[in-house]
Amino acid sequence: MSFTNETEKQKYYIQKCKELVKIKEQQYGRKLSACVVTFGCQMNFKDSEKLMGILSEIGYEETDDEHADLVLYNTCTVRENANLKVYGRLGYLSKIKEKNPEMIIGLCGCMMQEPQVVEKLNKSYRFIDIIFGTHNIFLLAQLLYERLISGHKVEDIWDGTTEIVEELPTVRKYDFKSGVNIMYGCNNFCSYCIVPYVRGRERSRNPEDIIDEIKQLVANGVVEIMLLGQNVNSYGKTLENPITFAQLLQRIEDIEGLKRIRFMTSHPKDLSDELIKVMAKSKKICKQMHLPLQSGSSRLLKIMNRHYNKEQYLTLVEKLRKEIPDIGITTDIIVGFPGETEEDFEETLDVVEKAQYDSAFTFIYSKRSGTPAAKMPDQVPEDVVKDRFDRLLSLVNSISKEKTKALEGSVQEVLVEEVNKKIPGYVSGRLSNNSVVHFPADVSLIGSLVNVKLEEAKGFYYMGEMVD
Ligand code: 5AD
Ligand code: SF4
Repeated sequence: MSFTNETEKQKYYIQKCKELVKIKEQQYGRKLSACVVTFGCQMNFKDSEKLMGILSEIGYEETDDEHADLVLYNTCTVRENANLKVYGRLGYLSKIKEKNPEMIIGLCGCMMQEPQVVEKLNKSYRFIDIIFGTHNIFLLAQLLYERLISGHKVEDIWDGTTEIVEELPTVRKYDFKSGVNIMYGCNNFCSYCIVPYVRGRERSRNPEDIIDEIKQLVANGVVEIMLLGQNVNSYGKTLENPITFAQLLQRIEDIEGLKRIRFMTSHPKDLSDELIKVMAKSKKICKQMHLPLQSGSSRLLKIMNRHYNKEQYLTLVEKLRKEIPDIGITTDIIVGFPGETEEDFEETLDVVEKAQYDSAFTFIYSKRSGTPAAKMPDQVPEDVVKDRFDRLLSLVNSISKEKTKALEGSVQEVLVEEVNKKIPGYVSGRLSNNSVVHFPADVSLIGSLVNVKLEEAKGFYYMGEMVD
């Protein structure tokens, strides 16, 4: 067979799989089911929507139950505990497969890009049918077809890619909001981080493809989009016709019918004044900035290869707060990086105090083999890390509480996102700054923007009342 492009080729394999699945349906007298389980970040969640899109097109019915005909784990390896979770769940899956030998188990995503992981899976988890990585998720139908006709295990892992395959099917978890990839990979090589090794070099999508996708989403009822990339602030630099992230945002702002724009993640070293200006003027870009700090110690930031110091970071936060009042600033912080002293840690506490984060994700440093930090001396003892982690968490939490309190009593625009599962008659939604509010309202309002008075700040969320 010859194909003019990859999309056409994959559509051919989707068709071939569809025929095989039809035969099984007739054999079983029922539809086949597929369960995609996602570990890790928003990027993986987005990839899973694409994977499920391909499987739906093939004829699988989506299910959350791992007693399915096909189970696919989309894995994460950013910290060791993400890997451990997958190994744990695989034990459980093997028991299910013992009872249903026809079941197909696939593994893909970041963990599969690590050769020692695949080696371990091949040795000790021999019941896995399909293994692929981060660079070739668009191949799912082709790999599944190979597995179905050969009956043998299929493994295909690429070292990297320059290719971006557009226009394959996707299913979305929400009707009214969606993630949109604007770039893939990362070139920063922060010394603790495995992402550049497993997700490859930075590749930006063409602005036209991004805009077309968003227009299509809006035509299908989406009002909020989240632009996704490991480092959105360096978007467009490697394109044939370079364009900045701020310019991309302005073009997206012009899309009629789109109500809200979010993005993540921003690297402080690339956050431009141009972007802050565009955000300040925008009617659609949410007042939210996720700005990973990692450490407040300039000494450690240098060893982490972050390309900013404590003062530059704080100046940036100050600028954001001045130009965009009410902005919600969130962050990521790592505790226990090799060589972290009590003084370094206190610098981190100092930044947390000064930056007044609305919320912060705090992580215990995890040694990732292949990264420069894994070879660094002075790994911090576990009990010291634990103590610092607890101190950091309690500071972060007390500041978040205060910050939430500040908006109490105000009226805010809220996107109604889901039925509140705990309180009958209530729904939950998000403010522009990404905080959550629960309030009584009809389910028919899901997907709409409404005004809500924040009656009571409850620590990390609000209880509210709808107003006209
Ligand atoms: N150990 C702990 N946290 C890490 N992160 C990335 N790599 C590691 C690691 N080796 C955190 C960073 C990043 C977030 C997504 O995960 O804080 O911003
Ligand atoms: Fe990892 Fe740093 Fe890239 Fe973020 S910017 S994915 S922390 S290397």
